[in-house]
Amino acid sequence: MGPPGAGKGTQGDRVAERFGIPRLSTGDMLRDARRGGTPLGGEARRYMDAGELVPDAVILGIVDEALGAPRAEHGFLFDGFPRTLAQADGLAALLGERDEALDAVLSLDVPDEELVARISGRRVCENGHVTHTGVVGDATECPVCGGRLSQRSDDHEETVRRRLGVYREQTEPLLEYYAKSDAGLTVVDGTGDVGEVSERLFRALDEVGTGTSA
Ligand code: AP5
Repeated sequence: MGPPGAGKGTQGDRVAERFGIPRLSTGDMLRDARRGGTPLGGEARRYMDAGELVPDAVILGIVDEALGAPRAEHGFLFDGFPRTLAQADGLAALLGERDEALDAVLSLDVPDEELVARISGRRVCENGHVTHTGVVGDATECPVCGGRLSQRSDDHEETVRRRLGVYREQTEPLLEYYAKSDAGLTVVDGTGDVGEVSERLFRALDEVGTGTSA
């Protein structure tokens, strides 16, 4: 968990790789649907470009499908889900049906001024890699795969401000929800370089213990 630009995707990839589990990002699933021109993508577009949340029922539907996929059989990491109390309750029901439970809930903490700087410099490539102008300058080719770099359609200043507002109003209350849950909540400092933040996350996961060995 964490506000827009906190590093959920960047760190999620590293944590998922360390534990050998898939990162289930609802944002990526919606962007894939948009690229594929599916009805889901069409519906999601107007919410995403306005910085608003996609309706809970739609999100719970795609999460249910993702949990049923073979790659999620041995564990998974959610990125950007759940984002509302209704989604958290829906997730509890989906996990209950499968006799599964969350091992840990992590939240990345980053000050607002840094979030805005991170998002405004973010560049994404057509194959899904994420980088920053602080690393690639004004290059137009992805340093990982050579794909074309561009700015996400919801990374413009006005939309970013709305996304931050939506996070504070609708998602931040979940921190208290999870702090009181069996999984507990670990808040991790998301500032500093990417490797340092990963080390903090790995340490936090070692401390809480997980059902998956690293
Ligand atoms: P989503 O794609 O989930 O976006 P988000 O939560 O707004 O988060 P971001 O992807 O912007 O940031 P991030 O925390 O992953 O940061 P990143 O690692 O990229 O959702 C998009 C939209 O989809 C939502 O607005 C909503 O409409 C919809 N949606 C998705 N899930 C939904 C749900 N569950 N319910 C309803 N609607 C939903 O890093 C950001 C930048 O910072 C990058 O450039 C990166 O290179 C850089 N960076 C990362 N770490 C560091 C560091 N340590 N130091 C310096 N730079 C860093």
